[in-house]
Amino acid sequence: MAAVARLLVALLVVFLVCAKATSYPGPSDDHHDLARYSRIFGFGNSFTDTGNADIFPPTAGGIDTRPPYGETFFGHPSGRASDGRLLIDFLVEELKVPQPLPYLAGKTAADFVLGVNFALSGATALEPESLRSMGLMSFVPFSLVNETKWFEHVVQLLNNSSAPEQRKITATSFFFVGEMGINDYYASLLSNRTVDQTKSLVPHVVGVIRSAITVLTAPLLSELYLGGVRRMGV
Ligand SMILES: *[C@@H]1O[C@H](CO)[C@@H](O)[C@H](O)[C@H]1NC(C)=O
Ligand SMILES: *[C@@H]1O[C@H](CO)[C@@H](O)[C@H](O)[C@H]1NC(C)=O
Ligand SMILES: *[C@@H]1O[C@H](CO)[C@@H](O)[C@H](O)[C@H]1NC(C)=O
Ligand SMILES: *[C@@H]1O[C@H](CO)[C@@H](O)[C@H](O)[C@H]1NC(C)=O
Repeated sequence: MAAVARLLVALLVVFLVCAKATSYPGPSDDHHDLARYSRIFGFGNSFTDTGNADIFPPTAGGIDTRPPYGETFFGHPSGRASDGRLLIDFLVEELKVPQPLPYLAGKTAADFVLGVNFALSGATALEPESLRSMGLMSFVPFSLVNETKWFEHVVQLLNNSSAPEQRKITATSFFFVGEMGINDYYASLLSNRTVDQTKSLVPHVVGVIRSAITVLTAPLLSELYLGGVRRMGV
């Protein structure tokens, strides 16, 4: 596992892609004016999920719906695979934006206009079919590709409902792409693949993340955070 840890630490580069919106209409051109965001769109796995897995039929009612989950901050299970807050919660606080609605908890443009979290616990970067073709089983039938599909649906909804607001939405959304890939690597390691075999997934995972970001950035990008893989193993 040590080799995996080193490999993943090497990947733990946290990129902060500051792609400045060309049409930003706000009062200040200051790059660091965090108060200019109106909403956040979140993507990822259990490091970022704030409620989707508890609604998603294959995973609803999981252990994180029961105490002690949520005990150190919310006082009750909060849809997070955590006793407290996740990175996205601190970011929401710092950016002074509303807590994004878990995608599965909403339906309409009005539900989604204040931000959406598309992350789902157990999600892999690679599609389940791709993993299956490598002889690997994913934990949930859900990948980053599904999250980008959900996102595209929301963009369509928002665009349909508030066409004149489109430019504003473009300039005032913050994108948070949390850690992705760890569930792919776990799927491999738990299938008793070697570290080298597991390493061979890395370019595929990076490729999927890269294409997801292309999809996300096409219609709306203002600013994007991309998280790295945390340390695994011992
Ligand atoms: C996820 O994507 C796959 C492949 O496109 C699709 O078959 C499946 O229905 C999607 N799942 C959800 C929950 O949208
Ligand atoms: C948006 O509007 C178009 C054209 O009116 C329609 O075909 C499409 O289904 C709508 N999309 C959503 C997500 O409501
Ligand atoms: C992995 O190896 C362990 C120990 O040999 C074994 O118990 C387990 O069933 C194996 N798992 C898979 C998925 O092959
Ligand atoms: C929003 O709607 C307009 C007009 O219907 C369309 O031209 C544009 O491509 C849409 N933008 C996105 C991001 O869907």
